[in-house]
This record gives sequence, structure tokens and C-alpha cells, in this order.
Amino acid sequence: MRVDVLHGPNLNLLGEREPALYGHETLAGIDGHLVAIGKELSCEVRTFQSNHEGALIDYLHATRQLTDAYILNPAGYTHTSVALRDAVIAVAKPSIEVHLSNTEAREAFRHKSLLADVVMGRIQGLGAQGYEWALRALVAHLRTKRQA
Ligand code: DQA
Repeated sequence: MRVDVLHGPNLNLLGEREPALYGHETLAGIDGHLVAIGKELSCEVRTFQSNHEGALIDYLHATRQLTDAYILNPAGYTHTSVALRDAVIAVAKPSIEVHLSNTEAREAFRHKSLLADVVMGRIQGLGAQGYEWALRALVAHLRTKRQA
């Protein structure tokens, strides 16, 4: 079983970027934790960050036959990218959208997610922990599917 985690623009600066909103944990810390939890769950976790819309789309295309599911935090592209939405539909894998902050409690332009209706579920406002819950939920989902 494999789950791929995609982080969008500016998330490489986690730890120093607006810590009141996004917390003090670095992206390397979050990714390392997910890989460790994955090991406990017998699930390979691969992580990828890019500041470029096309690179995120290319990553989805390149991994679509290698992975079972995605955790997606497209950051600013959540609210703008029709192309990323189309790619998520195209790869047709169970996906969970994660946001560190509660986007609904922020500026109006962050209330709209172009992924909201094409992902399995969404977790936001729980900080870095949200990624772990997403991983646990996807592993449970994939296991249930395999048993059926
Ligand atoms: C974010 C929320 C987005 O609105 C913002 O553009 C980000 C981070 C989050 O994780 O809270 O860069 O995706």
C-alpha cells in the first residue's frame, strides 16, 4: 500500500512562515512523521512539495499507477487551479484535502476550494495533525476496499 502526499506553494517555508497560522513544525518534520506513521501502518508514504502548479500536476500523472491514494494540500492553488482539479479527477484515486489552517475562518477568497467536491474528504484547521488523520483515514479506507 502506498500513499503520496503533495504540498503546494510556500509550504516549504513551514516553521518560519506565519507560525501563528501554520504552526512551528517544518515541512521536513511533518513529512518525517508521516513516513514513520506509514511504517507503523505498513504503508509506504512518499512526499512531494512544489511551488509550481504544473509540477504538482506532473507529479500526479507520474505517480498515478504507482500509488493508491493522495493527501493533497495544494495551498494557494486550492482556491484557483482548475488544472489541478482536473488532474485530481483524471488520476481517479481516493484523495483527502488537508489544510493546516481553517480556511473557512479566513478571507472570503479562501472559502472556495476547487477540490472540495472531487476529494473523498477534507481536514482543515487541525494544524500538522490533520495530515496524520488523513493518512490513517486513507489506510483504513484502502484496507476496507481490499477486503470487499
Ligand atoms: C493552506 C491554506 C491556503 O489558503 C493557503 O494559501 C496556504 C496554506 C493551509 O494549509 O492552511 O498556503 O493550504
